[in-house]
Amino acid sequence: MRLHSNGSSTQLALNYLTNKVVLITGASSGIGRGLALELARRGASMGLVARRAELIAEVVREIEAAGGKAVALPADVQEMESMAAAAETLRARFGPIDILIANAGIGPTRDAADFSAREVSSVINVNVIGASNSVAAVIPEMVARGSGQLVAISSLAAYRGLPRSAAYCASKAAVSAFFESLRLDLGPRGVAVTIIHPGFIKTPLTQGREAQMPFLMELDAAVAKMVGAIEKRRKRYSFPWQLATIVRAGMLMPIWMYDQISRANSFRE
Ligand SMILES: NC(=O)c1ccc[n+]([C@@H]2O[C@H](COP(=O)([O-])OP(=O)(O)OC[C@H]3O[C@@H](n4cnc5c(N)ncnc54)[C@H](OP(=O)(O)O)[C@@H]3O)[C@@H](O)[C@H]2O)c1
Repeated sequence: MRLHSNGSSTQLALNYLTNKVVLITGASSGIGRGLALELARRGASMGLVARRAELIAEVVREIEAAGGKAVALPADVQEMESMAAAAETLRARFGPIDILIANAGIGPTRDAADFSAREVSSVINVNVIGASNSVAAVIPEMVARGSGQLVAISSLAAYRGLPRSAAYCASKAAVSAFFESLRLDLGPRGVAVTIIHPGFIKTPLTQGREAQMPFLMELDAAVAKMVGAIEKRRKRYSFPWQLATIVRAGMLMPIWMYDQISRANSFRE
C-alpha cells in the first residue's frame, strides 16, 4: 500500500502485496534484506528469518521507521522446529502467512581437487533442507486455505555444473526441481509457486570475488525485478535476460563445447 497525496486528499494505492503476510528467510543481508524492505514498502507485513538477530532487528527498525510492519524471527533454517516456531510467531503477530520466500543460502567457492564433504553437506543443509524446512512451516495452512505463494530464490547456477561450484550448483538444481514438483502438486490446490533464477547481484555473497561476473547487477535493480515476478506470480523467472540466454544456450551445447567454454570462463577464481 502506498500513500499518494494529490493536494486535497490522500489516496491509498492497493496492490497485490497490500496486507499480505510474508515469511522471508535470509533477511539479514543482501537480496533478503532488499526484498524485505521493498515488500514492506508495498504494504506487506514481514516476518524476517536469519541467524544474526541484531541485523534482522535493524531491518525491522528500518521498516517500522518507514511506516511498515515487520517482526524479527531469529532462526537457523537448518532446524525444522525453529522454522515452525518462527512461522507460528509470525501468524500470532500478523495472521495467516500468504507468501513464503525461501531465500537463505550460502555459496562457497571450492575446487573439487580440494574436496570437502563437510562443506557440501553444509551447503545442501542450508540451501535445500533449509528451503524444505521453510516450506514445511507454511504448507499445511496454505493447502487448508487453498491459497498462498511459495517463492524460491534459486540461481542461474541451477542449470548446469560450473567450475569450483559443485555444492552450490547441486543445491540450486535441487531447489529448482524441488519447487517445480511442488508447483505440480500445489497449483491445482490454489498455492502458486515462483522459482527465481538470478544471475550475479552485488551482495556480500559475491563481494570480494575477483573472477569476472558478467552482467553483474546492482541490488536495487535486481530486487525490483524479483518483486515484479512475485507480484505477477510468475512460475519461473530467470534474469538478467542476457545471462539467462547464455545459460540456456549452454544447456543445448555438446559436452566438449560446454567444458571448453566453462573452463575458460570460470565465474570463480
Ligand atoms: N548474490 C548473487 O549474485 C546471487 C545470485 C543467484 C542467487 N543468489 C541466491 O540468493 C540468496 C541470497 O543471497 P545473497 O546474495 O543475498 O547472500 P548474502 O548477502 O550472503 O545473504 C545470505 C542470507 O542467508 C542467510 N542464511 C545463511 N545461512 C542461514 C541459516 N543457516 N539460517 C538462516 N539464514 C541463513 C544469511 O543470514 P545469517 O547469516 O544472519 O543467518 C543472510 O541473510 C541465496 O540463496 C543465493 O544463493 C544470489
